[in-house]
Amino acid sequence: MCGIVGYVGSGEASARALGVVMSGLARLEYRGYDSAGVALVTADRERVAVAKKAGKLVNLAKALAEDPLPDATAAIGHTRWATHGAPTDANAHPHLAAGGRIAIIHNGIIENYAKLRAELTRDGVIFASETDTEVAGHWLAREVDTGLSLTDAMLSTARALEGAFTFLAVDAREPHTVVGARRNSPLVVGLGDGENFLGSDVVAFIEHTRVALELDQDEVVEITPDGVTVFDRTGAVVVREPYEVTWDASAAERGGFATFMDKEIHDQPAAVADTLRGRIDEHGKLQLDGGYIDDRVLNSVDKIVVVACGTASYAGLVARYAIEHWCRIPVEVELAHEFRYRDPVVGVRTLVVAISQSGETMDTIMAVRHAQQQGANVIAIVNVQGSTIAREADAVLYTRAGPEIAVASTKAFLAQITAAFLLGIFLAELRGNKFPDEISALLAELDEIPAKVQRVLDTSQPIRDLAHSMANERTVLFLGRHVGYPVALEGALKLKELAYIHAEGFAAGELKHGPIALVEEGQPVFIILPSPNGRHSLHSKVISNVQEVRARGARTFVIAEEGDTEAADYAEQVFYVPASPVLMAPLLKVVPLQIFALELASAKGFDVDQPRNLAKSVTVE
Ligand code: AGP
Repeated sequence: MCGIVGYVGSGEASARALGVVMSGLARLEYRGYDSAGVALVTADRERVAVAKKAGKLVNLAKALAEDPLPDATAAIGHTRWATHGAPTDANAHPHLAAGGRIAIIHNGIIENYAKLRAELTRDGVIFASETDTEVAGHWLAREVDTGLSLTDAMLSTARALEGAFTFLAVDAREPHTVVGARRNSPLVVGLGDGENFLGSDVVAFIEHTRVALELDQDEVVEITPDGVTVFDRTGAVVVREPYEVTWDASAAERGGFATFMDKEIHDQPAAVADTLRGRIDEHGKLQLDGGYIDDRVLNSVDKIVVVACGTASYAGLVARYAIEHWCRIPVEVELAHEFRYRDPVVGVRTLVVAISQSGETMDTIMAVRHAQQQGANVIAIVNVQGSTIAREADAVLYTRAGPEIAVASTKAFLAQITAAFLLGIFLAELRGNKFPDEISALLAELDEIPAKVQRVLDTSQPIRDLAHSMANERTVLFLGRHVGYPVALEGALKLKELAYIHAEGFAAGELKHGPIALVEEGQPVFIILPSPNGRHSLHSKVISNVQEVRARGARTFVIAEEGDTEAADYAEQVFYVPASPVLMAPLLKVVPLQIFALELASAKGFDVDQPRNLAKSVTVE
């Protein structure tokens, strides 16, 4: 989730190259703000001019004011959301190759970068950073050195890479050209008059042109002041019709969605896919992102304690069912702010898993420190690279959800569950609870989740309509059982924090032990229904819960698995999601509840991205 901008212009237009790139980066900064950098190409210069700084774009602007770069005929710029390598000046993009003659910027994750880096190192390449991007840059330069044009070198490089990427590259020997390539990561072309643009999305250039061109998978694009040429992966020219961008600039920052939360709900297929990408190497080893815990320590673990707050703690509750089932290790899930005050039994054989989107939640930071003081090892599952929890934990597994701007957490929740599943699968294999074929089957089932989440998003209009019809409701209950119970808790939290109405999630089996007294005529109740398939299905028990509340006048709205025809017999309305393995169902069944809360709050005219009384990261205890 980085911001990328490219520009080429002729004559007096070229004098504005840096300005165009910097203003584009400013509009893209929400996509990543760990560092920023630009590379400028000027005719008759042997090297590109580069400026790059860790931190927000303002740091780069200050550096450029103190040490201006020359006018340029071509320019590329980048704001970084770190995935490989901490947010430092050295790891900031652009990265240089060919002795400073070639510069490259990148959004994505190259899965085979270690193998390529080893080959380049054997060829004598010296690396200046830890990034996968620099590997691509030196590979590109090696292709150029064989006599290929920058465009043909990019085509060849793209074929050698595995993973997800958007690249932009410039070569001082081709001062009027910027070349781009994309796979599983966005890149859009802006068509101007005597100038052309590239961007992660249209917001990069929308103030200069509304005529745009989409690029498909594995296509390479070459822009010059006089034209734009698109090539497919074989190098054949592709004819692509431009389109008119109808969004205004602020809508474009949200990808055309009305709110960041809606955009981030729609980012969820990518958030899950990116979190999964390239995680398990050819030896079945989980690729952590930082730190290390010895396998012998992990093999000696006799208890896992998850510490987290809010939505992150519900991700931990989902993970508990999976990790206990796969690894046969007891898992406790503790609210971080309660953890250290209960004098927990924690020691060297305890593995603490700290889950946090921001990595700055003070309650969770303090729980991590307490656990480490007691001798436990801590693995952090966090979204923000280089955050406090990531730095203080013994090991880190980053969720790759990209920046989550809306205060209400959505894509981070799915990414946290996904990362926790990966940790469970890794431990199950390490400790011998699962055979390799079982591990492969679990990973294959996880790989199917992004497309299934997309199907839920594509069929979300009914739940949106229901939300608008319920804008005046004063209280909503949510029931779930087994992994559906944390989904009920999360659905209730979303409604509380967005629509400011009373909402409560219950374990469905708990209803008759008191909460059913709340149910009266017309009371809306959402029920997360387990799959009807499988020997130990709780389906019939939860159907009974639906009947219990319905008999007392409740309006019953059921989230069920496609094909579950029985659900319709007891529900006012059923919202179907694709079938999935029982433990993975929360990744799908929570999505309608996220959308319901978003739409009901929107119907009430509330600020969905910045709800009252809340902060994106609670940095006080
Ligand atoms: C979720 O929608 C809330 N914004 C809140 O519960 C949040 O999940 C909690 O504060 C934890 O934040 P963290 O993941 O950044 O640690």
